[in-house]
Amino acid sequence: MVYNYHETTKHAQHKYARSLGYMDWSTQPDPFRVYNGVKEIKLPLAMQNSTPPYHLLDAQLPSAPLVKESISQLLQFSMGIAAYKESGDSSWAVRCNASSGNLHPTESYLVLPPISKEQNNKSNLFHYRPKDHSLEELASFETSFWDELPDNSFILGLSSISWREAWKYGERAFRYTQLDAGHAWQAIVVSAKMLGWKVTRLDSVSDEDISLLLGLTHKSKFFEDETPDMLFVISPQDVKSELNIDEMIKDIPTEFEGIANRLSSSMQKWDIIPAIEEATSQEQIPQAKTQKNEIIRTPSKESKDVVLNRRSIHVMQKDISTITKEQFHNILSSVAGSLDAKENSAHLSIFVHQVEDYQSGLYILVRNARDIDELKREMDSTFSWTDTEFEQLFLLQTKDLSTNSKVISCSQDIASDGAFSLGMLCNFTSQIEKYGAHRYKELYWECGVIGQQLYLEATSMGLSGTGIGCFLDDDMHTLLGLTNNKYQILYHFTLGRGYVDSRIMTRPAYE
Ligand SMILES: Cc1cc2nc3c(=O)[nH]c(=O)nc-3n(C[C@H](O)[C@H](O)[C@H](O)COP(=O)(O)O)c2cc1C
Repeated sequence: MVYNYHETTKHAQHKYARSLGYMDWSTQPDPFRVYNGVKEIKLPLAMQNSTPPYHLLDAQLPSAPLVKESISQLLQFSMGIAAYKESGDSSWAVRCNASSGNLHPTESYLVLPPISKEQNNKSNLFHYRPKDHSLEELASFETSFWDELPDNSFILGLSSISWREAWKYGERAFRYTQLDAGHAWQAIVVSAKMLGWKVTRLDSVSDEDISLLLGLTHKSKFFEDETPDMLFVISPQDVKSELNIDEMIKDIPTEFEGIANRLSSSMQKWDIIPAIEEATSQEQIPQAKTQKNEIIRTPSKESKDVVLNRRSIHVMQKDISTITKEQFHNILSSVAGSLDAKENSAHLSIFVHQVEDYQSGLYILVRNARDIDELKREMDSTFSWTDTEFEQLFLLQTKDLSTNSKVISCSQDIASDGAFSLGMLCNFTSQIEKYGAHRYKELYWECGVIGQQLYLEATSMGLSGTGIGCFLDDDMHTLLGLTNNKYQILYHFTLGRGYVDSRIMTRPAYE
């Protein structure tokens, strides 16, 4: 099913993946999930909180206490609204986490021990409502589960409403939904770092257990399906990723509060979407552990200013998009190593357009040395694999590939007019054979994490980026000389100096 879905949803020059092909505005989904009939707890805004300088985020920072104010900051600077944009009569919210087409399929939930007086000494399941920066109480219960964790730990869960993406992107929507979940994951990691907190993804829990915990099994409460993605423990310390949540599940009530709002008046059905969701909801198998990466950065802005000002750019200023070698190296160093202490599977095939001291051409950043010999065998045999100054970055071919980059990115100029663009080339079949169908989602998550990190790194340097989900899959594979699906490109990204459209006004997020 995974291979079938992946092949079926490839874009090609004269055959894009199936979608309506136009926007049916009458069924446009509401981007904000709300539970009706629940107690709502307003969170205090965190705008005035001071946050560490962005370049120090990876240092050992003292951890904040677990209180309503710190939870508020975590959510506002990760899944919250960053600003409202206005043009003519229309206005739309943009959030700290990037999302394909600004459709935001990702929902977030918290399971908190008793930390505020509103909780009446109970643990609670809350849904985060970004529109009002508040928590909606879905369940209240007692549990001894917290004893298994360090003090001041709690759980954050992510889920997805793929209809929000399918409305626009049709059958390819599952891919975007998973990429967006990866963006959300890294947004949460970075926001947690500002509070000195660590985020551990639980990689042994089943999708069914996540659904049980978040209340997604109560199907009659939802008009549009919401499916489980990830569960994290957020804590002052690293915890074991194999942690079992059975203790918690046995304590949650069978009935939850609230009915989920209906997002559209009707839905176009794409049968392949529930089919791939079902196929990839199989058991997940933990991957090998590795070291997290140390990132070297030059002094930069306060971290909240970086996350709140991260924006996608839709036009690059080609004539001033050149970046320095140091900027290029710093950006690569922020994504070269493992971002989650698990083995990397995505490598970066980079089109260098305008980087000082680098010839224009095709490069590859190998993010896991495990794959290097196989990549050399599988990719075009004429590639030179010449060492560069940056560890594990190899020059493959010297050539102006800006037009190829644009054509492959569905003819989007942003892919040719920046400093560089890249495709995330994932070890594909052997990862899926080894770890099972669930790994398909995880590969997208890894790419989404890299994408969010690239956005933030660019913003911290006064540069801009944009995620590119629209690309011609096999045209890129052909350019790399790949003739089978052992390695597949799952996401593209471009980075340079963006043109800011001054006709679009910006208003504060929460007034
Ligand atoms: C997975 C993903 C794919 C995207 N694909 C494209 C794309 O192909 N072209 C484009 O111009 N923007 C693309 N974007 C950028 C989104 O349109 C942008 O994130 C969204 O409009 C929200 O704006 P913001 O990033 O400024 O918050 C993509 C973003 C993500 C996360």
